[in-house]
Amino acid sequence: MSKNIFPEGFLWGGATAANQFEGAYNADGKGLSVQDVTPQGGVPAHPGEHDPLITQEPNADNLKLEGIDFYHRYKEDIALFAEMGFKVFRLSIAWSRIFPNGDEIEPNEAGLQFYDDVFDELAKYGIEPLVTLSHYETPLHLARQYNGWASRDLIVFYENYVRTVFTRYKNKVKYWLTFNEVNSVLHAPFMSGGIATPFDELSKQDLYQAVHHELVASASATKIGHEINPDFKIGCMVLAMPAYGMTSNPLDQLAVHEFENQNYLFSDIHARGKYPNYIKRFFKENNIEIQFAPGDEDILKNTVDFISFSYYMSVAQAHNPEDYDSGRGNIMGGVSNPYLESSEWGWQIDPVGLRLVLNNFYDRYQLPLFIVENGLGAKDILIDGPDGPTVEDDYRIDYLHKHLVQVGEALKDGVELWGYTTWGPIDLVSASTAQLSKRYGFIYVDRNDDGTGSLTRYKKKSFNWYKEVIATNGGKLYE
Ligand code: BG6
Repeated sequence: MSKNIFPEGFLWGGATAANQFEGAYNADGKGLSVQDVTPQGGVPAHPGEHDPLITQEPNADNLKLEGIDFYHRYKEDIALFAEMGFKVFRLSIAWSRIFPNGDEIEPNEAGLQFYDDVFDELAKYGIEPLVTLSHYETPLHLARQYNGWASRDLIVFYENYVRTVFTRYKNKVKYWLTFNEVNSVLHAPFMSGGIATPFDELSKQDLYQAVHHELVASASATKIGHEINPDFKIGCMVLAMPAYGMTSNPLDQLAVHEFENQNYLFSDIHARGKYPNYIKRFFKENNIEIQFAPGDEDILKNTVDFISFSYYMSVAQAHNPEDYDSGRGNIMGGVSNPYLESSEWGWQIDPVGLRLVLNNFYDRYQLPLFIVENGLGAKDILIDGPDGPTVEDDYRIDYLHKHLVQVGEALKDGVELWGYTTWGPIDLVSASTAQLSKRYGFIYVDRNDDGTGSLTRYKKKSFNWYKEVIATNGGKLYE
């Protein structure tokens, strides 16, 4: 009996975000987004930092302004994805290409045309687009003028934006995600939610009210999308980070429970259509009173068709975190787990955690799942190979292989999974550090952290490996 259990039609592919790879930050009428003024990667809002980013202008040091120039090279890049056999390609629409300030009534035609061209190119190869509507790129004007999602006004602007793109692409795109890592707004309110108030001045009341605005907007987008095309599959996207108790002390398990509930809050509301009971106590004890406008309760009942998530790492939690090394991580963290190794950037590598995440989400909601980010950020060295410059990235193959084997285990456990897209199938600019040297790709891009480089693309060893994984629908993992 074959060990391979990946279902027929499984959507293999890769995932990107406009602000990290398109470049052309001001071309063809595009407005600025929060990323265009956050040269060091846009996670400015840490306690104690009074960040002046909101007042800054684009700075030439910011690698995201040029990205890897997908805007002008999309045909070459999509041809490479097709060569690997991609079934799906995740990209975001830059909101500020369509509505440069975010609050206009009429869209920018040149921005709409660009994505038409990209979707047509994908269609040529039979690659299904998976589109994130908002991936850490709120139009800057909305941050400056309205304080981002802290303002209820953004719901209307977002509805106008999503209605525009749903209508325009209703026959070209089927799979949509409303907000990238929607739970990250609790930790990086500027990058994630365009909220300009420095983190340590932002009250919990205002932060959770902003969360409410995003959740209402997300549910509203689901409703609008289904009205425009009932065949749309619209999902939420959360940052998944399973947590382990540092010890079997019940207080450590309670710390795990509280950490996980902070994240489950988002998927619970998206999947169940209402606030869970456990958050009521948290709100009460923190004097938070969410202002519901008339109709919000009904809007939230528009639940998602599937749950998607990013997965890079797990953490450990303890009731006394100060007694341990801190576990650095993707936007949120905990304490360091002594059983796990870490990437060069300190993210702890845990393939089994992915199996747990899949099982936990599926048990909780019985909704289809989609892994829309997973991968290893690593420093690559370009060497001369028989067919030209390449990278011997066995470490990346090893990471992905181990995670995919655990995906296979979860499939055997019975989870329903639509697909898997690795993060950054082509090197792009890191969200958290704004480096190009933190590379995730199967395709190397000649661009360095100082901005030099020809932007030429080279295939890494992992390129052929992933191609075979796809061609065998996962069978390669079991050779
Ligand atoms: C996720 C984001 O948090 O992690 C991506 O959705 C990001 O935008 C990815 O790039 C990897 O993080 P980083 O900081 O290594 O780019």
